[in-house]
Amino acid sequence: MKTRVGVLISGRGSNMEALIEASRAPDCPYEIVLVLSNKSDAGGLETARAAGIEARAVDQKDFFRDREGHERALDAALRGAGVEVIALAGYMRVLTPFLVKAWEGRMMNIHPSLLPLFPGLDTHNRVIAAGHAEHGCTVHLVTVGVDEGPVVAQARVPVLPGDDAQSLSERVLVAEHQLYPKALSDFCRKLAAA
Ligand code: GAR
Repeated sequence: MKTRVGVLISGRGSNMEALIEASRAPDCPYEIVLVLSNKSDAGGLETARAAGIEARAVDQKDFFRDREGHERALDAALRGAGVEVIALAGYMRVLTPFLVKAWEGRMMNIHPSLLPLFPGLDTHNRVIAAGHAEHGCTVHLVTVGVDEGPVVAQARVPVLPGDDAQSLSERVLVAEHQLYPKALSDFCRKLAAA
C-alpha cells in the first residue's frame, strides 16, 4: 500500500510537480491523492488537475482573519481524502499550532536555504548579501517554530560570481526538485516499516 500524501501549495507548484512526477514510478512508496491551495489563483492547481490529481483551493480570503478556521477546513479536506502525510510545497502562509500539532511528525516542508541558516523569506538575496559561497535547500519536519523543525535532508549548491537572486534561485530549484521526492520517498518507506 502506498502512503497517501496531500500537498499544500500557494503558487506555481513546481515542487509539487516534481513530487507528482516521481510518484509515477511503480516502486514509489507514496501517491498524491489531493492538492490544496490557500489561494484560488495558484497556478499549481491547474498543473495538478492536468496530471489527473484532485486539486482545489480552500481560499484564505473566505475565512477573513480566522486562521484556525481556515486550517480546520484544510484539515477536514485532507482527512476526507484519507491523507496520511502532508507535503508543504511552496505553501507561503505560516501555520498555526492547530494544524502543526494535528499532523506532528507527518508534515514536511521544503525551504530554500541550508537551515538553520536563513529561515524566513527572501533567502537568495540574503545569502548573496551575506557573501556565502554555498547555498541550498532543506526538507524538514514542520514544528510550531517557523523553519525550525528537525532536518530530514539537505542539498547544497555553489553561489557563483555574478549570481543574482534569480540565477541562484534557479540553481536551488533544480536541487529542490531532486531532493524533495527522494526525501518524501525515504520518509514514507520508514513510516511504512515502523
Ligand atoms: C520553493 O523555492 C520553495 O522552497 C519555497 O517557495 C518556492 C515555491 O516554488 N518555499 C518557501 O520559501 C517556504 N518558506 P514552487 O511553487 O515552484 O514549488
